[in-house]
Order: sequence, then C-alpha cells, then structure tokens
Amino acid sequence: MYSSVIAAMILLCSMPLSDARAINNPCQVQDIPSLTKQLTDTIEQMALANTSANDLMSALRGPGFLTEDDQNQLNATENLQDLPLLVEADNLTVTNMVDFLHESCRIVSTHIAYVQVALSEQVANDGRLLETELSHLESKLFELLCNVHALAHTKNASCATIESTVDASVVPSAIRNIQDATLRYMRNYILGKDTKIFLGNLKANFMTLLNKNEK
Ligand SMILES: *[C@@H]1O[C@H](CO)[C@@H](O)[C@H](O)[C@H]1NC(C)=O
Ligand SMILES: *[C@@H]1O[C@H](CO)[C@@H](O)[C@H](O)[C@H]1NC(C)=O
Ligand SMILES: *[C@@H]1O[C@H](CO)[C@@H](O)[C@H](O)[C@H]1NC(C)=O
Ligand SMILES: *[C@@H]1O[C@H](CO)[C@@H](O)[C@H](O)[C@H]1NC(C)=O
Repeated sequence: MYSSVIAAMILLCSMPLSDARAINNPCQVQDIPSLTKQLTDTIEQMALANTSANDLMSALRGPGFLTEDDQNQLNATENLQDLPLLVEADNLTVTNMVDFLHESCRIVSTHIAYVQVALSEQVANDGRLLETELSHLESKLFELLCNVHALAHTKNASCATIESTVDASVVPSAIRNIQDATLRYMRNYILGKDTKIFLGNLKANFMTLLNKNEK
C-alpha cells in the first residue's frame, strides 16, 4: 500500500537539499488497515529508525571520527538545542489521540530537518562521509512520518500542516553550518543519541495506545 509513498520518498531523497526546503509531506493513504495493525506497524518502523540511528553512532565511533574521550564526553552530554525528545501526552487514548498525532508529526519532522542539515553539511564539506548512514536515517524517519500520517488519516486528520511549519530554520544557527569536521561529527553523534531517546519515548506512547486499543 505504501508504494506511492516510497516512490515519493525516493524522489525526495534524490532531490538536491537546499537549506530552506520545507519538509514536504510525501505521505498518501490508499487503504486503512485496522488500528491495531497500524499501531504495530508504526512501532516496528520506530525500531527500524532506531537501528539507523544506532548505525550512525557506530560509524561515528569508528576510526577517523570520534575518539574515546570525545565519546565519553558526548555520552554524558545533554540533547541538541531546540530538539524535542518527547511528545507531551497526558491521558492519551485512542479516542483523543489526534493532538498527540499532530505533535508526533511535528517532532518527527523536526528530527528529519536536523538529519537533513547534518546530511547536507556532510555532503558539502566532508567528501560525503556518513552520507549513507544519514540518508538511511532520513528515509526511516520519513516512513515513520507516513505511518503517523496514516493514523491521523484514520481520525480524519493529517500531517499536512508540517509543510508550512517545519524546515531547516528549526535548527538553531549555533549548531548549523559547522565548519570544523570534529564538531560536526559531535553534533551528528548527539543527534543520533537524541533520535534514539525520542524514539524510545514515542514507542512508550504507542505501547499505551496499543494496550488501550486491545482492551
Ligand atoms: C534502540 O536501540 C537500543 C540499542 O542500542 C535499544 O536498547 C532500544 O530499546 C531501541 N529503541 C527502540 C525504540 O527500538
Ligand atoms: C558511549 O555510549 C555507547 C552506548 O550508547 C557505548 O557503546 C560506547 O562504548 C560509549 N563510549 C564510551 C567511550 O564510553
Ligand atoms: C483523563 O481522561 C478521563 C476520561 O476521558 C477523564 O475523566 C480525566 O479527567 C482525564 N484526566 C486528566 C488529567 O485530564
Ligand atoms: C471521517 O469522515 C467520514 C466522512 O466525512 C465520516 O463518515 C467518519 O465518521 C469520520 N470519522 C471520524 C473518526 O471522525
């Protein structure tokens, strides 16, 4: 069912990345599986995105990137400026989940914007090192966005508003256009870590929804 989505994403990923490109919503919904199936699929997609984030961090622990000292310091570092790690969701249920889904779309899109900034800086400055890892993470997050969009669609809502609200400008200038390669790797490492934290929190929200839906 997602073939058109994947086609749109391939198109998107092969487009040159310009700094102010808004996150286009590539998602189209053709038929709607049961809510339980959608929630389960979305949770599975989080695991795939999490794997891509792990792969990015593993690459950055490899030779030529971050030293043990760097990693020690970064393992204890707070998250990147303005990057949300949690969707606020008091009292979340399947009947009141539309606001939660909208906020999830916004925050997943924000993570995509950060990944796109990291990717375009690696491509521009660093002989395309980490291009594979960052591109994979970007596409897994786009697929996750489409899962959330499909869920919103079930409730007659959508993720369309992100088209006008999320672009590279959500990434603060202090952590953009980093010229020093090591500092760029550090930013990208924390980004991988933050994305994993966010996905863990989002998974907990979705487990809540799944449990309530199955009761
Ligand atoms: C992400 O991967 C880590 C292993 O590094 C694992 O502990 C964690 O549960 C995973 N999170 C999700 C959301 O799958
Ligand atoms: C930093 O944390 C990761 C797990 O998130 C671990 O694999 C790695 O060994 C740690 N690095 C250091 C130097 O402690
Ligand atoms: C949570 O939702 C229930 C039922 O919808 C409601 O009775 C309760 O007041 C809500 N609690 C909070 C803290 O919003
Ligand atoms: C969505 O809209 C359709 C038709 O406009 C309606 O039949 C359906 O009940 C709506 N569903 C929800 C969850 O509001």
